[in-house]
Amino acid sequence: MSIGNLYQTADWKGEKHVPAIDAPTTVKAGEEFEVAVQVGKEIEHPNTFEHHIVWVKLYYLPKDAKLPVEIGNYDFSAHGEAEALTSPKVVTKLKLNKCGKLISTSYCNIHGLWTSEVDITIEA
Ligand SMILES: [Fe+2]
Repeated sequence: MSIGNLYQTADWKGEKHVPAIDAPTTVKAGEEFEVAVQVGKEIEHPNTFEHHIVWVKLYYLPKDAKLPVEIGNYDFSAHGEAEALTSPKVVTKLKLNKCGKLISTSYCNIHGLWTSEVDITIEA
């Protein structure tokens, strides 16, 4: 058994656990762009003490590379304490020089591991 087999995937428009990656499909080499990752973009995921998204991670896999680069890791720590509730969305900025994939993973405390990916094209 590999942990890779434990990651679930689906269309984020129909499954509330899939991390939806919002990034341009094409960017210029070395030019900063924004990437957002959101769980529950189309169908809201609960964020309660009993049921919530614990973390979201974002990776970059350059074309023809064997190993991904971790871009970021975000832990959602408040799940109703003092009535503080978060929505599982993170935004970062990024510069790339090579085409590849952006890959996101997320973890729901009840429904486990989820992943999605998008291709990104870098123009010279
Ligand atoms: Fe869930």
